[in-house]
Amino acid sequence: MGNGGHGLLAGKKGIIFGALNEQSIAWAIAEAAYREGARFALSNAPVARRLGALQQLAEKTGSPLFWADATKDEDLSAAFSDAKEALGTLDFIVHAIGMGVNVRKRRPYEKLNYGWYAKTIDISAISLHRIVHHALNTDALADGASVVALSYIGAQRSFSRYQEMGDAKALLESIVRTWGARLGKRKIRINAISQSPTRTTAGQGITGFDSMFEYGERLSPLGNADAASCADYTVTLLSDLTRMVTMQTLYHDGGFSSMGITDELVAALTPAGL
Ligand SMILES: NC(=O)c1ccc[n+]([C@@H]2O[C@H](COP(=O)([O-])OP(=O)(O)OC[C@H]3O[C@@H](n4cnc5c(N)ncnc54)[C@H](O)[C@@H]3O)[C@@H](O)[C@H]2O)c1
Repeated sequence: MGNGGHGLLAGKKGIIFGALNEQSIAWAIAEAAYREGARFALSNAPVARRLGALQQLAEKTGSPLFWADATKDEDLSAAFSDAKEALGTLDFIVHAIGMGVNVRKRRPYEKLNYGWYAKTIDISAISLHRIVHHALNTDALADGASVVALSYIGAQRSFSRYQEMGDAKALLESIVRTWGARLGKRKIRINAISQSPTRTTAGQGITGFDSMFEYGERLSPLGNADAASCADYTVTLLSDLTRMVTMQTLYHDGGFSSMGITDELVAALTPAGL
């Protein structure tokens, strides 16, 4: 166990998908899981290899690293077979994968390129289905395991700049429920964490991200949740303390999802003299 942990994941083994650089939510999750005594494999798309950052995290946490495109069945099947060989059966999976292709290429929702749209859904949502499928198919998942995926409130509400990603997250959260009903017989649970806007590569690929971030910061009573606090919350979901929680979208957003407006925002929108 690393410094400052509580041993919440002592003896647990898992796989974490989606750490790209130090800003990544999955990076913070890996550091927190390591601190809490877990051993895990790391995985990301082969294109992330040339950036070199993930290799450093793997070294720091003593983790095997498996390159897998989360839209490719053969890559995922190999990743789970290799992870099982390296660590034994897994107690947790973290899915922190997302990309909005139209968003990235500045295509407005009114003029979607449908090929890119399909790719967005494949990478950001269907990949969760594939990951669980291949984990089961390779017999890599232990009874009582915990699966966590990262989501955003754009799944429920319309955020103009989130565009196609809102559709992808709605499907992701639906897959959480549909899989969850089936995984329960093995006491395997699966949940989505709906996280505040966070300054990461994926987050900042959205035009208007800074305004969305500022809006979250002003509306949420606790302010926006950062990646490190998201990682701490994720650890609780990977631990046995939350063993009866499944099929949920859990808001980790400083209270944003329960807010309407604040006095400060009312004042800012009130014309002078009223
Ligand atoms: N940043 C935010 O504001 C925010 C808010 C709520 C939820 N999320 C979600 O958190 C998760 C992690 O994103 P992040 O913000 O840490 O950004 P990030 O860019 O650090 O992580 C996204 C990851 O997805 C990976 N990825 C993309 N295509 C892939 C593929 N084909 N196969 C495998 N991996 C692939 C990338 O390599 C990257 O590591 C995503 O699901 C994102 O939607 C982010």
